Amino acid sequence: MVAMKLDGNLNLRTSPLASDGLAILGRPASLIGYLCGSLSAAGKLTHESMHTHDPQGEMYCIHSVCVDPAYRGMGLAKWMLDAHRQQWLPVLLPRVKTRSLICKQDQIGLFMSAGFELVGPSDIKRGKRQGYEMRQVL
Ligand SMILES: CC(C)(COP(=O)(O)OP(=O)(O)OC[C@H]1O[C@@H](n2cnc3c(N)ncnc32)[C@H](O)[C@@H]1OP(=O)(O)O)[C@@H](O)C(=O)NCCC(=O)NCCS
Repeated sequence: MVAMKLDGNLNLRTSPLASDGLAILGRPASLIGYLCGSLSAAGKLTHESMHTHDPQGEMYCIHSVCVDPAYRGMGLAKWMLDAHRQQWLPVLLPRVKTRSLICKQDQIGLFMSAGFELVGPSDIKRGKRQGYEMRQVL
């Protein structure tokens, strides 16, 4: 469990969700943001690697990083990504060596600032738009 105080009015804490991600919960209980994913033994994100969970996989495929629109622009996505890498994965999934995700073109900067590198355009789309694969070696 990680505690975070954003300002005088909002106390936040992360809560492990079973074994597949983490969430930011407000008080009283409400979901403010979450990060979830699955494991894969593949070296690349494909529809198959995103839809097949391999418990022995060393790549954590991030399916979604999402923050409630009312709380965006406050650094919460960046904070979840950092907490996931530094505090969550080493304890719960120490075998994981890389994490990967698909994002939109205008989100590449966000994930680069969290330590990801751009792999390139992906076959997997985000909505109707071209998706971009990002990867981080841990
Ligand atoms: C993408 C998302 C998670 C960002 O959440 P957030 O809490 O507002 O992001 P942060 O405040 O942590 O932003 C961190 C940095 O990324 C930048 N950033 C945030 N959202 C961005 C976006 N959509 N496009 C470009 N840059 C963005 C911020 O300006 C900030 O930059 P800085 O560190 O230089 O100030 C949020 O907009 C969301 O939930 N979107 C819908 C789901 C989604 O598209 N998820 C991503 C793919 S899985």
